[in-house]
Amino acid sequence: MKTVNRVDAVLDAALLAGEAPGHPPRLAAAMRHAVFPGGARIRPQLCLAVASACGEGASDIAAASAAAVELLHCASLVHDDLPCFDDADLRRGKPAVHKAFDERLAVLAGDALIVMAFEVLGRGAAAQPQRLSALLRIVGAAVGTPHGISAGQAWECEPALDLAQYQRAKTGALFAGATMAGAAAAGYEPAPWRPLGEGLGEAYQVADDIRDVFGNPDELGKPVGQDAAHQRPNAVHALGLDGAIDRLEALVVAAAESIPLCPGRRALRLRIIEEAQRFLPKKLRRAA
Ligand code: IPE
Ligand code: IPE
Ligand code: MG
Ligand code: MG
Repeated sequence: MKTVNRVDAVLDAALLAGEAPGHPPRLAAAMRHAVFPGGARIRPQLCLAVASACGEGASDIAAASAAAVELLHCASLVHDDLPCFDDADLRRGKPAVHKAFDERLAVLAGDALIVMAFEVLGRGAAAQPQRLSALLRIVGAAVGTPHGISAGQAWECEPALDLAQYQRAKTGALFAGATMAGAAAAGYEPAPWRPLGEGLGEAYQVADDIRDVFGNPDELGKPVGQDAAHQRPNAVHALGLDGAIDRLEALVVAAAESIPLCPGRRALRLRIIEEAQRFLPKKLRRAA
């Protein structure tokens, strides 16, 4: 099965478990709306690519780790779109969860997806419980505080912030969670895999900033111009388009160089450089 399909199968099974008799139907529908159809699914693919490079991409624990990371990502988008954050009506080409349902259900769906991520990990690690402790800490740190998504979103509530620190927490932390979880799921020491995830995540956020300024909302399936509208830091505003693309490229090169020794290092490095080409729409890419 292709990696996206494997992850989607775990996500679907987790949502189905929440749709058992006696569940509140609108919450279940809001959760499903947030997860399917998916977006790029880049974080779970990265997690599985690392597990695979470490020689254990096909295990249940690797698929569960990837799915947990994606559930946390989907939850973060539901909350990010709420009127009290970015007030965005469109996500993945559909009404955002608070528009399709309502704000209360969007808050609850996000909360329940976060909890579901940890349940999925618990279930997926049943055959290798000795790896669960590391996975829980990795995934928790990626979305919590002081340096995870919660911290990243909280920087928007501070009077001053540092762009790199903000982007590292808002986006880099979950990418680092994805690479480290992929390694831990395969029984590898996770820490050496942090720079790969952090660097790619920061690069991905720089690309998102460029798309926010120059992208097409119909192609992206979400509104553009949001950072200026909400006075959010944006790499293009800070560095200009050329400066932002320079930064994106430098981050990807450094990330790819940082891949630790493992059986699939060479193939993973090539794949990452190739996938990173697609971070930007064609019209914004530079000729290599
Ligand atoms: C959107 O992430 C939020 C950012 C951190 C840039 P994605 O671009 O991965 O969103 P989906 O999952 O593909 O919709
Ligand atoms: C979202 O960042 C990152 C999260 C942690 C949810 P943005 O607000 O920049 O992402 P989009 O543009 O809404 O996808
Ligand atoms: Mg935001
Ligand atoms: Mg947003």
